[in-house]
Amino acid sequence: MKLLIANWKMNKNFDDGLKVIKTIRKKIKNNSNKKYIILPPLQSTLHIKNNLIKNDVIFGSQDCSQFKNGAYTGDISAQMIKKIGCKYILIGHSERRTIFNETDEVLKRKIKRALEQKLKVIFCVGESLTQYKQGNSIKFIIKQLTKVLDNNINFKQIILAYEPIWAIGTNVTPRMEEIDYIHLKIKETMKKKYNILKIPVLYGGSVKAVNSSDIFSLKNVDGGLIGGASLIASEFCKIYDTL
Ligand code: PGA
Repeated sequence: MKLLIANWKMNKNFDDGLKVIKTIRKKIKNNSNKKYIILPPLQSTLHIKNNLIKNDVIFGSQDCSQFKNGAYTGDISAQMIKKIGCKYILIGHSERRTIFNETDEVLKRKIKRALEQKLKVIFCVGESLTQYKQGNSIKFIIKQLTKVLDNNINFKQIILAYEPIWAIGTNVTPRMEEIDYIHLKIKETMKKKYNILKIPVLYGGSVKAVNSSDIFSLKNVDGGLIGGASLIASEFCKIYDTL
């Protein structure tokens, strides 16, 4: 199964979002080989769901609280996210790690909350430009994985996403062979450390219709996590066609 995830970030309010989804729904369909999942801001998800004639779009959330419930002003729990109808939660995106200072411990708790609610987790890892230039990408990514994931996790609920921070929103990507190699190394790590023989690993960072078919044809890449290009329905549909 190939996956294409649209991470809208803090974009697309109510009718803007609805318009994009309506166009996407008309143009592309999920099937048994590939599916797309949309992660709008949560209030837009509700609006979109309430205004679609047929509720056949798969939604996810871009984040969840590390806590179950209680006095946590501004937070939204995994349980609430499930109630909205989301099936997936993105955890560990580099913007959450850097701008919101989310540590490995926080990410661990978020994954736990999501899994308690039987939501699927898309867990992101990826190195900075400095680490990349120093040749430390793999070492850093393995550390990100092993600091957060443990053997108590139901790995059937986990999808991994490799997003080099320096490729996010920059129009640059690693070379194709570098992308494939890192995906391979992630899969090898999952096998060695957790005895997981099969886990989807998606690539994210400046995926566009012009480079998606090259990226998705790589042996170890199981789909994409799309930011900017997922805000334009026609572009997102073109990317889906190459999956
Ligand atoms: P981008 O973002 O596609 O705009 O580079 C990817 C992401 O942040 O998930």
